[in-house]
Amino acid sequence: ALYGESRRNSRGVNMNILSEWLPLKDELDKWWDARWTGAPLVNGKRLEGEVRAVMCPYELSHQVGEVVWASADQTRAAIDDLSGAFVRWNATPVDERAAILERAADKLEEHMPELMALCTREAGKLLQDGIDEVREAVDFCRFYAMQARQRFATITLPGPTGESNELYLQGRGVFACISPWNFPLAIFLGQVSAALVCGNTVVAKPAEQTSLVAVRCVELMHEAGLPGDVLALLPGDGAQVGSVITSDPRIAGVAFTGSTQTAHVINRALAARNGAIAPMIAETGGQNAMIVDSTALPEQVVNDVVSSAFQSAGQRCSALRVLFVQEDIAERVIELLKGAMAELHVGDPARRDTDVGPVIDADARDGLLKHVREMKQAGCLIAETPVPESLNGHFVAPVAFRLDSINELSDEHFGPILHVVTWRARDLDKIIDDINATGFGLTLGVHSRNEDTAEHIDARVRIGNVYINRNQIGAVVGVQPFGGQGLSGTGPKAGGPHYLLRFVTERTRTINT
Ligand code: SER
Repeated sequence: ALYGESRRNSRGVNMNILSEWLPLKDELDKWWDARWTGAPLVNGKRLEGEVRAVMCPYELSHQVGEVVWASADQTRAAIDDLSGAFVRWNATPVDERAAILERAADKLEEHMPELMALCTREAGKLLQDGIDEVREAVDFCRFYAMQARQRFATITLPGPTGESNELYLQGRGVFACISPWNFPLAIFLGQVSAALVCGNTVVAKPAEQTSLVAVRCVELMHEAGLPGDVLALLPGDGAQVGSVITSDPRIAGVAFTGSTQTAHVINRALAARNGAIAPMIAETGGQNAMIVDSTALPEQVVNDVVSSAFQSAGQRCSALRVLFVQEDIAERVIELLKGAMAELHVGDPARRDTDVGPVIDADARDGLLKHVREMKQAGCLIAETPVPESLNGHFVAPVAFRLDSINELSDEHFGPILHVVTWRARDLDKIIDDINATGFGLTLGVHSRNEDTAEHIDARVRIGNVYINRNQIGAVVGVQPFGGQGLSGTGPKAGGPHYLLRFVTERTRTINT
């Protein structure tokens, strides 16, 4: 398979699969003390400007590197250049554009140890998460290359004698890609590769916290043959660089992954431009639930709960936030959960025995700890994994709380915090209604050995990705197309067969022969 080769076993219960990265250990070790430098990349060249230090989230005195932030003027000038390059790139045969993505995928694989180390150093990713990150980025490149070759084939349509009719796809213009820190390589490159392969030129704004990964990625894309003038990378402040981009009337579309709140801001900015009506792809947050009925296997449930709630320190938009467990097995599940949480190791993500690394920064940690304090004060604590005192980073202990209803949560808590609700058989439809009433619709887990129950739930929820009898994270490109609805986003799904269609415009050509 083109894209399946590199996919991992997303159902793995063991959160830290050592055998995968051990062969890379010597190569990886060379990168731990590297110091990376990044800058805006426009027309293939680094720009100068205000320099920001990049600090490591789990060793607070360690400087990972530094990055130059783009200014508003540099952003506007980059969009000028991208507008100029569009006609040529859009006319480049799709095969050529796709081949560049495939070469970029090869480059990423060659540079796997460096990219893994950078994901760990800059974003606090576990080694296994670093492997998954590079593989997903590779998968996106190969999958969208394959999709573009198929989708861009000209369709011949019927017509009267003497007339030829054809329908084909084209790029839209300058596309904006605004990406998050939690998948700083995979989601960044997923957006950018989709936009580029469709013939758009791209202005990319990576998350403030993870610009260095994005810079290395773009450098490798240029090494793979991507022309300098079709992709501008602009690290910088979301409020400044981001708003210059989204208020520019020349922006032909936006792919955004991040908070629901920011998606609303971008939507309003696009609407206020009085320019072209631009499509937007938003992948935002979730208040993700798992429903467990009394027929489920408690051991399997707890394995899947632990990985869904705590892997990647809960910093996945797919992560489990609210576990609904039927009262008949609730006590058993909670006992096993306490045992499993006591076994988790919180610590340095570069160590092989670590299960849960840091959260991204001090603001994230403080917001999570505020919720933890409030829940503890309310007397809701079930279990909390200890955090070693020797750690010097943005750590939040995995923690589980009792809750009466999902309605009590007003915000998404983007970290290793699980809430547990117990339900009675007659309340099943009520909890489904409550989950729908949050307005979010990203992932849902279901554990039941009763097929009718699973089908009943599946038919009633308004959710993008439903996972039955497994964990609910780790969507694989081309296998589990990923994305939500309602407050969780617009679709089409990343890594799915319809994704590219939002990046293109259609041309009908009629020739009187
Ligand atoms: N795609 C990721 C997952 O499925 C979340 O962004 O876990």
